[in-house]
Amino acid sequence: MTQKKRIKLPKLIGHRGLKDLCPENTLESFNKAFDIGLKYIELDVKISKDEIPIVLHDDSLERTTNHFGLPTEYNYSELRELDAGAHFYNKKTNIIIPKLIDVLDLCKKRNGGLNIELKPNKGFEIKNVRKIIELTENYKSTEIFFSSFDLASFIEISNELPNSNRSFLIDTFKDYSLEQIINLSSSYNSNICGLSLSLLSQEIINIIKKKDLLITVYSDKNMNLQEVEECFNIGVDSIFIDDPKNLSKYF
Ligand code: G3P
Ligand code: MG
Repeated sequence: MTQKKRIKLPKLIGHRGLKDLCPENTLESFNKAFDIGLKYIELDVKISKDEIPIVLHDDSLERTTNHFGLPTEYNYSELRELDAGAHFYNKKTNIIIPKLIDVLDLCKKRNGGLNIELKPNKGFEIKNVRKIIELTENYKSTEIFFSSFDLASFIEISNELPNSNRSFLIDTFKDYSLEQIINLSSSYNSNICGLSLSLLSQEIINIIKKKDLLITVYSDKNMNLQEVEECFNIGVDSIFIDDPKNLSKYF
């Protein structure tokens, strides 16, 4: 089956908001991305103990808050008391872990798009997707695409929202070969393929493009102008960016 390109992605997507300029995955970070002029943000979503979709990258709370443990061990009323900005500013802040619905409201208000990365804690894959779908149903005018490294999440969102824009994310070809990834995209009719910068080559891009898939690229550190230009030159459609300094021509 030929894949359909259902959306035109922007060249740059703010990674966890703009994670090099603000505390990642916070409203401050998402506002910063829109203030600077980006049209689209990426965020990582998992559920709390009371099954509220929240915006948090890691499986645990340690790195980005002043507490420890798993988010699935706490209700949101407890999680919202944590300081999600101190790790960035090295001082106490009032910055909190947002709920997904807060970010959906922000994107609606600012007319921005969002990439919801499905990032469940282990054992909460299906519930996470279902709770996220319940929320996004009410934001039909906001452009959204879903992505995940997690196969169960990718399959669940594909089955539940077969017409949505979706991407399977790949960090290494050790877990899945390129052929398996392409077959997965074809089986579930997804339209985007998300790759780590470390996997990129012209040959790989050409193979993916032949399948009519859009290609997004992320990196574990910010990409500079030269790296960004090289990506676009070989056919990458969209890049997750941490700090878009010197990149305003791509806004
Ligand atoms: O979706 C792109 C990127 O967000 C994937 O990596 O670890 O930053 O969620 P990570
Ligand atoms: Mg992410």
